[in-house]
Amino acid sequence: MSKKVLVIGSGGREHALCVALGRSPQVSEVFCAPGNGGIEDVATCLPDVLVSDFDRLADFAVNESIDLTVVGPEDPLVGGIVDYFKERELPVFGPTKDGAQLEGSKVFAKKLMARHNVPTAAYVEFDDFAAAKAHLTEQEWWPVVLKADGLAAGKGVAICQNRAEALVALDEMMVEKRFGDAGERIVIEEFLRGEEASVHIVTDGTTMMVLPTAQDHKAIHDGDKGPNTGGMGAYSPAPIVEGPMLEKVIRTILVPLLNGLRVEGIEYRGSIFAGLMITKGGPRVVEFNARFGDPETEVMLPRIQSDLYEILHTAATGKLADLAEGPAVDPRPCVAVVMASAGYPGSYPRGLPIYGLEEAGQLPGVTVYHAGTRRRKDGGLSTAGGRVLCVTALGDSFAAARTRAYEATAQIRFEGAYKRGDIANRALGAV
Ligand code: AMP
Ligand code: GLY
Repeated sequence: MSKKVLVIGSGGREHALCVALGRSPQVSEVFCAPGNGGIEDVATCLPDVLVSDFDRLADFAVNESIDLTVVGPEDPLVGGIVDYFKERELPVFGPTKDGAQLEGSKVFAKKLMARHNVPTAAYVEFDDFAAAKAHLTEQEWWPVVLKADGLAAGKGVAICQNRAEALVALDEMMVEKRFGDAGERIVIEEFLRGEEASVHIVTDGTTMMVLPTAQDHKAIHDGDKGPNTGGMGAYSPAPIVEGPMLEKVIRTILVPLLNGLRVEGIEYRGSIFAGLMITKGGPRVVEFNARFGDPETEVMLPRIQSDLYEILHTAATGKLADLAEGPAVDPRPCVAVVMASAGYPGSYPRGLPIYGLEEAGQLPGVTVYHAGTRRRKDGGLSTAGGRVLCVTALGDSFAAARTRAYEATAQIRFEGAYKRGDIANRALGAV
């Protein structure tokens, strides 16, 4: 069969999606808009088509008779790209604008969880600075978590250890408007203690398929120190949320969530990424995302042996129940180490030449996904983002996968390359 797919986005997640979709026996051609230097090796890229240019993306899907468009990042989802594609009767994987509110508005997600008894941190919402300040002045338990309601590229969350810190964070959100409109409303919530894990599902709104579990490393430095990033590494499975714990997550969180969306009239066709805290009292939701995680995708997809095109296409068309229960999963763990530009998550240089990619990619079990790279006119690759590469490896144990991933990073050089040294430490010994 000769299906054509279009992946929207330009990160490591989209590289992993392009590789996995290209592996489908049904898929003959993969396109990616805009793509990046590494995605060019596995897909035809449209480097000058922005993810926000719904017209051009849809025109391309029409002209090329694309059988399925897969939307990677949250911004176009929250902006309504799926509604737009549906109006034009184009097959697309991702939630419509109403479903994407699960990620686009913390208040929406919190209220939905409250209405359907999904366990999460207790919270209060404010759209008035003085009222929020008064609340913090009376707050007795610390730390407390402040969140901008809207999308803030993963930066709109402040964990405040005391009142002084909280008042500074509140000022940044509501007075300085550091996150723009996203901070017009905020949520103040209870700090949850425990270990974090990510559980992803693919759903057509009725049936769900649970994907391999994962855990990412958000902080920039070893030992989870320093500011949060998009993710400095990941591993799959996440032992903390396997077995009975995963059953509990499905029963107490995912089933009520899907029911809730359905009874509220939202037909959700896409992926849901539940960011969880495994607390002493059981799993609780930290946040929902309306898309696949990055770098979680880079460790989940190499383990999925089933045809990803079939999974995403049947979900997009409401026929997920036709598939066998879960995807076939490679039991071997996968570990991903992100190589970032010096200075990330602050400002960083671009355009630095990258060496050693071929050698790294030849190591057994290793795949190097590109996050921020660009191909130069002379054919070489340069850095073009904060997170530059996501170096992944499958291995017979966590230790083996981790050793391979780090061996591969040792082959790769660019000026100032930064990586954490403790990726998957928590999982060592678990498998
Ligand atoms: P979010 O963007 O909501 O995922 O928050 C970013 C990160 O902040 C999460 O991955 C957690 O590490 C942390 N975080 C957010 N909310 C809470 C909470 N209620 N308790 C503890 N940590 C939190
Ligand atoms: N890795 C976290 C995220 O994709 O938001």
